[in-house]
Amino acid sequence: MTTIDELRQALDIFLQLHLAELETHPLLKEAMSYSLLARGKRVRGLLLLLTLDAHGASWQRGLHPAAAIEFIHCYSLIHDDLPCMDDDYLRRWLPTSHVKFGEGMAVLAGDALLTEAFGILYAGYRTQSYNGETLAQLLLQVSASAGATGMIRGQVEDILLQESSQPLKDDMRHRDKMLQSVREMHRGKTGEMILLPLMMACGILHLPEEAATLYRSFGYQLGKVYQIHDDLIDYLADPEITGKGRGRDQRHGKITYPSLLGVDQTQELLREEKHYLESLLKHLPGNQEQLALLLQSLF
Ligand code: IPE
Ligand code: IPE
Ligand code: MG
Ligand code: MG
Ligand code: MG
Repeated sequence: MTTIDELRQALDIFLQLHLAELETHPLLKEAMSYSLLARGKRVRGLLLLLTLDAHGASWQRGLHPAAAIEFIHCYSLIHDDLPCMDDDYLRRWLPTSHVKFGEGMAVLAGDALLTEAFGILYAGYRTQSYNGETLAQLLLQVSASAGATGMIRGQVEDILLQESSQPLKDDMRHRDKMLQSVREMHRGKTGEMILLPLMMACGILHLPEEAATLYRSFGYQLGKVYQIHDDLIDYLADPEITGKGRGRDQRHGKITYPSLLGVDQTQELLREEKHYLESLLKHLPGNQEQLALLLQSLF
């Protein structure tokens, strides 16, 4: 078994090398590197590498797709932080891309990271990490999860929800409707990109449908826990620990679990959802020792 730290280090080196070889305008390269090589947790890329390793396959075969996912995730963060979106100033312990480079360059760095991801997936095929059929499957999975039917749909719902008003304290019917909308929005904006590396790994491993179904349930539940935790840390956690601003959701009037349920009830919900996640983990095929450790380190 390879440890999480070893996989994270290999992925970091891979990201660095890929950017170093990119021939483009130096300022664009600087803006792309600034956000990508900052201290991201690399959870999505790690999920792919860990899953290959858990089934005794070579995790090196997953480096291209894992890097592609981290490029796309990083673009989504740069755009998410823009003044027209969440208007955030701190990301990965650094001033956000538009604060550092200006809005135009931040938009373009995001665009370039997204587009480059497809070239990276192709490079994995060229170096024979997977065959042409698997490449086609990976491309379809990425465009479905990251695009209009996946993460972007969730981001659209996030914007629209922000425009609706918080329910009154005792209007339970309205509150329950809002909770349902938050659940669906989370599934899109966070769940899809957490599920994606697990589904890509299932494809690379050619796992049977029953195994993929178990990973799908686990992935969606992990996305749910991930975003409930993220909404809570926006309320509670010190920017020195999270590397991003505190209280931004409240200031923007965002509808989140803590805004609907309060902090205590959201913490209780997080405990319950984590419990369910652990039970799903136990049913996954393969040796999931390292994945269990990753989860422990996150929540
Ligand atoms: C932040 O993702 C955006 C969410 C969907 C919560 P991460 O918390 O994984 O951010 P990085 O990659 O570690 O910066
Ligand atoms: C972002 O959700 C999800 C993305 C698609 C980037 P958030 O807006 O809650 O993420 P943070 O808190 O800014 O990292
Ligand atoms: Mg957002
Ligand atoms: Mg945000
Ligand atoms: Mg957040």
